[in-house]
Amino acid sequence: MFNRLSNCHNSSDFRNLAKERIPSAIFHYIDGGADDEATLRQNTKAYENCDLVPNVLKGVEDIDMSVTVMGQKLNLPLFFSPTALQRLFHYQGERAVGKVAEKFGTFFGISSLATVSIEEIANSISSPKMFQLYIHKDKGLNDSMIEKCIEYDFDALALTVDTIVGGNRERDFYTGFTSPPRLNVGSFISFATHPRWTLNYLLREGFSLPQLQDHIKQGTDITISVGEYFNSMLDQNMDWDTVADINKKWGRPLCLKGIMSVEDAKKAVDVGASAIMVSNHGGRQLDGSRSPFDQLSEIVDAVGDKVDVICDGGIRRGTHVLKALSVGAKACSGGRMYLYALAASGEKGVEKAMGLMQDEIQRGMKLMGAKTVQDLTRENIRFR
Ligand code: LAC
Repeated sequence: MFNRLSNCHNSSDFRNLAKERIPSAIFHYIDGGADDEATLRQNTKAYENCDLVPNVLKGVEDIDMSVTVMGQKLNLPLFFSPTALQRLFHYQGERAVGKVAEKFGTFFGISSLATVSIEEIANSISSPKMFQLYIHKDKGLNDSMIEKCIEYDFDALALTVDTIVGGNRERDFYTGFTSPPRLNVGSFISFATHPRWTLNYLLREGFSLPQLQDHIKQGTDITISVGEYFNSMLDQNMDWDTVADINKKWGRPLCLKGIMSVEDAKKAVDVGASAIMVSNHGGRQLDGSRSPFDQLSEIVDAVGDKVDVICDGGIRRGTHVLKALSVGAKACSGGRMYLYALAASGEKGVEKAMGLMQDEIQRGMKLMGAKTVQDLTRENIRFR
């Protein structure tokens, strides 16, 4: 079937379209996880192990989907997790995702490995912005990113804590994925058969990683795999003192991205974090680790009244968001849920994907008899 954006009605449609439209090494970088990808699969499967219990006759013509996360009012309980290298997926990259986030009035997360600068995003997007920080061995680089985020008035910093080394992403070994992509015999056919992507890549603005370029020897190239980049560049000695240090330097809402245990959730509270993203990095790091949704209730029970608990990962449907909210998450976030759409069709794709999610959340809330997000409680969910 000839696949087009108008035929995309859910995340799996966007995934199929992305697979058709971009070179395979890039598709598999987005799509893949670590080792056997058991965690990647479970992240979404987890939502099927429970059922919603709706209430009816609640007068739901007007409902309010807004939530407040780290002091920012969001128009819907779902936001864009920071993800790397977006201009590689589609030439519009972070610019497109940021515009859509602004349009929907929700958080836009940009990555340390973003392909657009902190300055540009700050100057062009007026809705809430979160910067994702990787702690590099190079302290000057860490400080420069934090200082820029302060200077350009970012609303939150999301410190990634689950990427102390790179995950074992075997698809990237098979495809030889590097950033920017290396042209070799294997990749040549894939580039040649995706002329639209390839021409955009060659003729539009050159690839760059503006946050890193003045500090990293490789400049704008991660001509090694992303895993090798993590292994050689990131500070494996990062610990709770590092978090306290960053919190002091930053002095604004801090989110720890990649908290999975109750013990760490409590430490996050002690160190003064405003939010935690319960996340396993989209199944790209420790395969065999529990899914964020499976782990959510323990964390909410322990710290849900002290920090904003975000359920990050595996979200493909509005009802997944409703299930996480019913367990007690403040909001949800995701990467692939918009990256397939970005890769498939740029800004138009992301806008359609987020529009569908917004419609699904709205329809679902009405069918659940929930006029506000707070109306969803554990009374509304049963585990099998
Ligand atoms: C990844 C990093 C870059 O998962 O967040 O590939």
